[in-house]
Amino acid sequence: MISNEELLKIAKEASENSYSPYSNFPVGAAALFESGNVYSGCNIENSSYGLTLCAERNAISTAIASKETGKLIKIAIYSPKSAKCFPCGACRQWIQEFSKGYNSEIILENDDASISIYYINDLLPNSFVLK
Ligand code: THU
Repeated sequence: MISNEELLKIAKEASENSYSPYSNFPVGAAALFESGNVYSGCNIENSSYGLTLCAERNAISTAIASKETGKLIKIAIYSPKSAKCFPCGACRQWIQEFSKGYNSEIILENDDASISIYYINDLLPNSFVLK
């Protein structure tokens, strides 16, 4: 399985494709699915600000559009502008959706370039699910 360091590297590379002229806050994400496949994405902004797409949802959308049906095992998130670039609330809900009952790992880079691991059930406790 791909290492956390390698996954973060893919997130970093994806952040270089960011379209973020309004915030100047590039973000990249790399999502590892149960199949072993990795999908990356960057944030894409719009002059109508509310239409902005986050890097995490871009990466997950690409996975789903590529017929990925397994669990989301882990997702690395990176911004050159901020250590520990935590996922926003909307992205936490998306991560929870595609974790499919697995406690997906969120891989973040610290100030000193070491890695921190969080779990979606901790970042989004008591999340909404349709039963
Ligand atoms: N952003 C992400 O890509 N992911 C997040 O989880 C939080 C925020 C982006 C959206 C926007 O383009 C920029 O960061 C500043 O909010």
